[in-house]
Amino acid sequence: MQPTPRPHPDLSLQAPDYVRRIARYLPGKPIAELAREYGLVEADIVKLASNENPRGPSPTVRAAVAAAVEDVCRYPDGNGFALKAALAARFDLSAEQIVLGNGSNDVLELVTQAFLRPGDHAVYSRHAFAVYPLAVQARGATGIEVPAVDYRHDLPAMRTAITPATRIVFVANPNNPTGTWIAPDALEAFIASVPDDVLVVLDEAYNEYLEPERQAPSAAWIAKYANLVVSRTFSKAYGLAALRVGYGIMDPNVADMLNRVRQPFNVNALAQAAALAALADADYVEQSRIINRAGMRQLEEGARALGLPFIPSHANFMLIRVGDAASVYARLLKQGVIVRPVANYGLPEFLRVTVGLSVENRRFLDALAVALAG
Ligand SMILES: Cc1ncc(COP(=O)(O)O)c(C=O)c1O
Repeated sequence: MQPTPRPHPDLSLQAPDYVRRIARYLPGKPIAELAREYGLVEADIVKLASNENPRGPSPTVRAAVAAAVEDVCRYPDGNGFALKAALAARFDLSAEQIVLGNGSNDVLELVTQAFLRPGDHAVYSRHAFAVYPLAVQARGATGIEVPAVDYRHDLPAMRTAITPATRIVFVANPNNPTGTWIAPDALEAFIASVPDDVLVVLDEAYNEYLEPERQAPSAAWIAKYANLVVSRTFSKAYGLAALRVGYGIMDPNVADMLNRVRQPFNVNALAQAAALAALADADYVEQSRIINRAGMRQLEEGARALGLPFIPSHANFMLIRVGDAASVYARLLKQGVIVRPVANYGLPEFLRVTVGLSVENRRFLDALAVALAG
């Protein structure tokens, strides 16, 4: 006789409440998934949903990755010696001030892992990057969301929201998904106003898309503000999103704490080799910025021609107000165009579209016109 099966317990009930309350991150829909769901040909699909660089990796990056493949049987350098040395030289910092991450997302997580206890507070803006609340919640800490003004970070209000319970303040510049930008003077005044035992995490994932005169001298601020962590990534303008590599620059004592909680081999060898090559390829980044600016103008003109309001953006994406964004998104999917709905950011009337190549932007605008027509 078969033994009666034991009732199947729901182990999710054993997870801490603060984990069970987390609403999962919603990534952009992958091309292969849309192709499967709608029976479309992958090559015909345009994905403008995850703020990736549409140009593909540069030839030097391809060569570096191909060379590094030879050694994939070995663990990567857990200290990222060569990449940190190159970054240190670039920013005139020491290697001890740099922490490498599996994407800059990892750096954001590491800061919360090293510095937040259950019950601590972390401050961020409404409509700011979705990972901040997730990372804070995963530690059992409390996220304090400060209302935005005109979709922008309200820095004075964020300063007021800091209390003795606050351990971290997140600032995204430019911010995702709004594309809004804070001028360097205002940003530095804010950092200087934050109590020096509260970390300021300045997320500059889209920094390289800013016109050079708009880029803050944030690396130089590290020497002045021991509580400043600047995070950057190779996923966006450097075109390495799939490889997952980013970095944080900060005071060595802060870096030491992040290094204690990070995985020993958090950045893989192909990513390190690619990032090193990408960092040396200034032309690729510069051209990406110029192509992006032209694409942004194309999308702005297209939105105007359709009579759609948009939020002027300083990054490689923009928010367009389309009304019932969920249905417009679905109608775009049917036409093989993937963008990003942002209702989870409290922006249910907007779609976020990444600036693509000119032909992709055209495809999106044409599909949008069709989608709006019903
Ligand atoms: C503002 C912001 N910060 C950080 C990231 C994380 O990117 P990655 O982990 O690829 O560096 C993103 C990605 O979309 C972002 O928009």
